Amino acid sequence: MDEFAVPCLVIGAKGMLGRDLCSAMRLAEIQIIEMDVDEIDISSMPSVLEAFHMTKPSMVINLAAVTDVDGCESKQDLAFKVNAVGAENVAIASREFGSFLIHMSTDYVFDGSGDKPYGEDDSPNPLGVYGKTKFEGERRIRDSLHQNYCVVRTQWLYGEHGKNFVDTIIRAGKQNKKLRIVNDQYGAPTYTVDLAEAIIELGRLGLSGIFHVTNSGNTTWSGFASRILEMAGLTDVEIEEINTEELGRPAPRPLYSVLDNSRFERSTGMKLRNWENALQEYLSKRNF
Ligand SMILES: NC(=O)c1ccc[n+]([C@@H]2O[C@H](COP(=O)([O-])OP(=O)(O)OC[C@H]3O[C@@H](n4cnc5c(N)ncnc54)[C@H](OP(=O)(O)O)[C@@H]3O)[C@@H](O)[C@H]2O)c1
Repeated sequence: MDEFAVPCLVIGAKGMLGRDLCSAMRLAEIQIIEMDVDEIDISSMPSVLEAFHMTKPSMVINLAAVTDVDGCESKQDLAFKVNAVGAENVAIASREFGSFLIHMSTDYVFDGSGDKPYGEDDSPNPLGVYGKTKFEGERRIRDSLHQNYCVVRTQWLYGEHGKNFVDTIIRAGKQNKKLRIVNDQYGAPTYTVDLAEAIIELGRLGLSGIFHVTNSGNTTWSGFASRILEMAGLTDVEIEEINTEELGRPAPRPLYSVLDNSRFERSTGMKLRNWENALQEYLSKRNF
C-alpha cells in the first residue's frame, strides 16, 4: 500500500492530537471522516458498528481514550471501558469491515525501570491504571486483528488544541517566580504537529506492528520546563527541582520511559526533529 486508504475514519478527532492530525490530513487532501464522543462512543459496540456502517472506512485512526492519567486511578471502570474494551470494539469492527487500524498508545505501558530507550519488543509492565488499560487495549487489538493494524506508542505530547505542559509552565511562570518541577522522569517532549506527519506516513505505507514515535532527544520535566521558560523569555523564574515522590501524584509514573524510534525511522526513512526545535516552532506559533 503506498496510497492512503480512504475514506479514513478518525476517532477522537476533537482531542489535542486529533485536531492537528485532521488538519494535516485535510491539507494532504486525504478524505477523512471526523468523529468524537458526540458521534461515537467506542466503549459501546453498537455505537462503533453504527459508525462503521455509516462510513465504511478503509482506514481507521483511533485516538479516543481516557487520557487523564491521575483521574484514571479513581475512574478505573471508565478507563477500562474506553481504553481497553473501546480499543477492542474498534478492532473487531475494523476486522468485520476490512479496515486497516492505526491506534495510539503510550510509553506508560513500560515501568520505566530501565536506563536505555525502550524498543517495541521490550516487555511492557505498566504501573498505573492508565498504562494498564492502554496496554490491555493493545493486547486486545493484537488478539482481534493479528495483523492489519499499527499501534503507535508516543509520549509527553503538547499541541495547540489541548491542556499541555508547555502552556501550563508559561502560565505559571508569568504568575510565580519559583516553580517546583520533577527532575527524575525522563522522556521526549513531542509536538502533535510532528507526530501527525509520522502517523500519516505510517498510514500511507500501511505498516503493520508496533512503532515508537516521538521527537528526537530526551530530557526531564525540569529540563523541559527550563527550556520553555528560556525560549519564552521568562528568564527570572527559578526552578526548584523535586523528585516524583515529593510531587505525590495519585498515579505512579515510569521514571525512564524514553522510546527508541529506530524501527519507525528504518521503516519510513523519516526522523522527527529534535524536541527543542519543535518546541521553538510551537512557541513562535503560539505567540505567548
Ligand atoms: N497526551 C499525551 O501526552 C499522550 C501520550 C501518549 C499517548 N497518548 C495517546 O494519544 C491519543 C490522543 O491523545 P490526546 O492527548 O490527543 O487525547 P485527548 O485530547 O484527551 O483526546 C481524546 C479524545 O477522545 C475522546 N473520547 C474520550 N472517550 C471517548 C469515547 N468513549 N468514545 C469516543 N471518543 C472518546 C475525548 O473526548 P472528551 O475530551 O470529551 O473526553 C477526546 O476528544 C490517546 O489515545 C492517548 O492515550 C497521549
